[in-house]
Amino acid sequence: MKALLIRGGRVIDPAGGRDEPRDVLLRDGKIAAIENPGKIKAPDAEVFNAKGLVVAPGLIDIHVHLREPGQGYKETIATGTAAAAAGGFTTVCAMPNTVPVNDAPEITRWMQAPERGASIRVLPIAAATRGSMGEALTDYAALKEAGAIAVTDDGKPILGDAIMLETLRAAAPLGLPVIQHAEDTRLTGGGSMNAGALAFRLGLRGMPVEAESSLVERDIALLRQVRGAHLHVAHLSTRKALDAVRAARKQGLHVTCEVTPHHFALTEERIGLYDTNAKMNPPLRAESDRAAMIEGILDGTVDAIATDHAPHATHEKEQEFERAPNGITGLEIALGLAMQVLHVRHKMPLARVLALLSSRPAEALGLKGLGGLAVGSAANVVVFDPAEKWVFRAAESRSKSKNTPFDGWELQGRVRLTVSEGRIAYRR
Ligand code: DOR
Ligand code: ZN
Repeated sequence: MKALLIRGGRVIDPAGGRDEPRDVLLRDGKIAAIENPGKIKAPDAEVFNAKGLVVAPGLIDIHVHLREPGQGYKETIATGTAAAAAGGFTTVCAMPNTVPVNDAPEITRWMQAPERGASIRVLPIAAATRGSMGEALTDYAALKEAGAIAVTDDGKPILGDAIMLETLRAAAPLGLPVIQHAEDTRLTGGGSMNAGALAFRLGLRGMPVEAESSLVERDIALLRQVRGAHLHVAHLSTRKALDAVRAARKQGLHVTCEVTPHHFALTEERIGLYDTNAKMNPPLRAESDRAAMIEGILDGTVDAIATDHAPHATHEKEQEFERAPNGITGLEIALGLAMQVLHVRHKMPLARVLALLSSRPAEALGLKGLGGLAVGSAANVVVFDPAEKWVFRAAESRSKSKNTPFDGWELQGRVRLTVSEGRIAYRR
């Protein structure tokens, strides 16, 4: 592996409080030096000219569906991580709703094997219950030993009170976060979009905001009973649930949450006339909820931006709205959307936007040694042009699937280089 000298960039390391012109030397898979421009002498290194570009920690996406094992026609670990690298990510956390469900250490290990061809680091999140059936716990200690960094039944909620309490109790001593897909399915059954006037007009059954907030409130009540437990709310989408998280945190409970780019950038109006590329779970909400996501991001309540990258094949999405599967892709545009909506439109400082895509998700899920640019740490780096405007074309995506509501969107902020553990994973 050749050494790489990233020269002349603006280095932003939110965790280290750094935002200044610096050169960065990557050697043997590690960050070897960060020095004043021109100071590093490394004649053997390849030079990357980062003039006018931002050099930041490789981005971390704590919520992606890579579809392997079992659904390689939608995505593989190789194609999903290639899309992630193009989006500036160097770490993705892979959800367990694969086929079979990742509920066993062998599967967790299989996902991380070199044969999968991942171009960046994949950290599996294991199923909280066997087959994600919500009945019997999986073996958390063995799954952690195999590399799982959290447990969840994502795609489905852990619905029963007793099993959720058991989950929190079993995960706490191991330091594993419990990630909840907060949806009371007793309230959403048969629904395919946000409940409200628009769903009524379109003749679709709706999913009320209370289905999310009531489960978050239930989980927080259970969390109170378990010392040392950590609840992480996945893809939070409603003001009510956000208020519950904010209040719980004020009381000192260990609750964290993530918001997707689509939930801070879009509303249910994007569905238009039954566009299945705007169908996902949780659904796009009303403007007041979208605005609440922005508020939660700006005031720090939201810990992470996570894509919920959920690839589905064209033939699956080209069905009646109610029959089409939930989910949209998101890895290649997360940075561009965050830059455009949060930095440009809402004037959020660049370092804070980047923190939501690197140091804060790492902190939220306890990913040690990731999300920063400390000398000696793994050489996970993204270099991007914060000013470049570009148009996202789904057809050009590295993902196997093209199910996105952002096809043709103009974005700001484009990735030029992604380095994962010293290796160039993407370069434009
Ligand atoms: O939109 C979604 N897609 N929401 C989920 O909870 C699951 C995911 C998927 O796996 O497709
Ligand atoms: Zn989910």
